[in-house]
Amino acid sequence: MGRIGELVRLCRCVNVVLVGLVLISAPKAQAWSKEGHIMTCQIAQALLEPHAAEVVKNLLPDYVDGDLSALCTWPDQIRHWYKYRWTSSLHFIDTPDKACTFDYSRDCHDPHGVKDMCVAGAIKNFTSQLMHYREGSSDRRYNMTEALLFLSHLVGDIHQPMHVGFTSDEGGNTIQLRWFRHKSNLHHVWDREIILTAAADYYGKDMLLFLKDIQTNFTHGIWSEDVQSWGDCDSLLSCPNKYAAESISLACKWGYKGVEPGETLADEYFNSRMPIVVKRIAQGGVRLSMILNTIFGKNHHEIAAPA
Ligand SMILES: *[C@@H]1O[C@H](CO)[C@@H](O)[C@H](O)[C@H]1NC(C)=O
Ligand SMILES: *[C@@H]1O[C@H](CO)[C@@H](O)[C@H](O)[C@H]1NC(C)=O
Ligand SMILES: *[C@@H]1O[C@H](CO)[C@@H](O)[C@H](O)[C@H]1NC(C)=O
Ligand SMILES: [Zn+2]
Repeated sequence: MGRIGELVRLCRCVNVVLVGLVLISAPKAQAWSKEGHIMTCQIAQALLEPHAAEVVKNLLPDYVDGDLSALCTWPDQIRHWYKYRWTSSLHFIDTPDKACTFDYSRDCHDPHGVKDMCVAGAIKNFTSQLMHYREGSSDRRYNMTEALLFLSHLVGDIHQPMHVGFTSDEGGNTIQLRWFRHKSNLHHVWDREIILTAAADYYGKDMLLFLKDIQTNFTHGIWSEDVQSWGDCDSLLSCPNKYAAESISLACKWGYKGVEPGETLADEYFNSRMPIVVKRIAQGGVRLSMILNTIFGKNHHEIAAPA
């Protein structure tokens, strides 16, 4: 081992400290938790057709050994870095309070009003970058690995209902409340709390068991009849509008519904909302696979859900 071993150990340790600090000082969370993103990407990758799987593998850096889910949280890690600050509005959409609808031209902009800088616009952007890459007419200014990682992450985010929320409360981020016994906020309840509580209560915190249960439910369980229709949309570039409209509708019907700032959310909220959270993760994964299969499939085929 010697010096290099020491150095590696030292670096690991420094890393742990840094990661700790980052976690402590992290601003309010604004994404499916890492667990949500990882499951979304694992679902998607398992449904890739051979040719698409190959292209995805080639775009990933060697050190992840072909595992897309290992980098699905990357866009959240870098969004506060100077170089990537422009990406921070790409994770969500703020819609007018109480409107409960999504209108691309009204709502898809960053806080300064710059058009297309929202999660729906970004998914279109990275989808079309990857299509040009596939067609060999890629713009060399763009990094296709990054395009793949952003696309994979943001298809997850757009399915988290509170990522398409009201403007004044920042998608529930400013609605402080308690989740069982600890402090949280409404956005975070949907990003992470429900997923972690489900993992603990039903799967002994084994995320792989949780994932398998989701996969079984769309291959031959409660969603197997629906899954075909999850892929429906007019054209690849219009799909994100549909996903965003679904999310704000769910946010109104289930996210905000009946919630008062300062209250404690517990069993009743958990039991009724968990099925929605899990279904959105499943839909995000299935739809990400559909998008990637369409962009990278052997033939340019029409949009189709997994059989
Ligand atoms: C699209 O991606 C490019 C970089 O890859 C970026 O400069 C541009 O702002 C992005 N636009 C949107 C709407 O995401
Ligand atoms: C593309 O982006 C990845 C992730 O940021 C980076 O590691 C890689 O070096 C970039 N590739 C090129 C050709 O710039
Ligand atoms: C899968 O379906 C079963 C049977 O309806 C249900 O009890 C379970 O909660 C579902 N699991 C997930 C992760 O959706
Ligand atoms: Zn995000």
